[in-house]
Amino acid sequence: MNIVLMGLPGAGKGTQADKIVEKYAIPHISTGDMFRAAISAGTELGLEAKSYMDKGALVPDEVTIGIVRERLAQKDCEKGFLLDGFPRTVPQAEALDSILEELGKKIDHTINIQVEKDELIARLSGRRICKTCGASYHVIFNPPKVEGKCDKDGGELYTRADDNPETVANRLEVNMNQAQPLLDFYQAKGVLTNIDGQQDIEKVFADLDALLLQGS
Ligand code: AP5
Ligand code: ZN
Repeated sequence: MNIVLMGLPGAGKGTQADKIVEKYAIPHISTGDMFRAAISAGTELGLEAKSYMDKGALVPDEVTIGIVRERLAQKDCEKGFLLDGFPRTVPQAEALDSILEELGKKIDHTINIQVEKDELIARLSGRRICKTCGASYHVIFNPPKVEGKCDKDGGELYTRADDNPETVANRLEVNMNQAQPLLDFYQAKGVLTNIDGQQDIEKVFADLDALLLQGS
């Protein structure tokens, strides 16, 4: 199964993606995670991505499209994949269409998780991430069993560099400007499904899973 999961920063893409890839045993392709891995590894890509991410800006389309093109061509994507946070501009969506055509693949589900702005701010300001496995927690909405430690592996939890109030405000503005034309692009093709992301985590997953089961 090939899935595109879209949504504004904090909509719950990563949280839901973890659950979907676990159940359906497909690779989780998050452009944000790929950039953060490149930053940790100190690569040239990481250096470039960091300069945009620190400001809450988007990494240029040609860079982002390039890494997705390479990733989708890898063998493990033959069994399916979940794209999280890509595409997020119309040029990225157009490029995805041509990459998939070259690879002889198609998307089965194009999903947008909808959440209001105030809720997004509340979610991002309380988010904590596991240093070991990348799992996402929230100090109020999804707290770990032991404060500061991951439930799965006891890893230390940290606050993402771009979750400070100033960068969050920029990320929301930049992403909101791109979101409507992107959703219109998929709406015009008649393939977009909106999911109400403003419910608790398990309920959002139940809605997503019902959709995936329907179409598979
Ligand atoms: P990326 O890492 O993709 O960040 P983002 O889009 O800003 O999204 P987030 O990861 O912040 O949110 P999420 O939707 O995954 O929410 P989560 O599940 O964690 O991108 C980072 C940067 O990389 C971008 O700013 C850009 O610079 C660059 N980049 C990435 N992709 C790019 C692209 N395609 N083009 C150009 N540049 C790109 O949940 C958030 C919090 O809410 C957590 O604390 C969680 O526990 C909690 N939560 C989740 N669901 C619920 C719920 N239902 N109820 C209550 N709380 C919830
Ligand atoms: Zn962990």
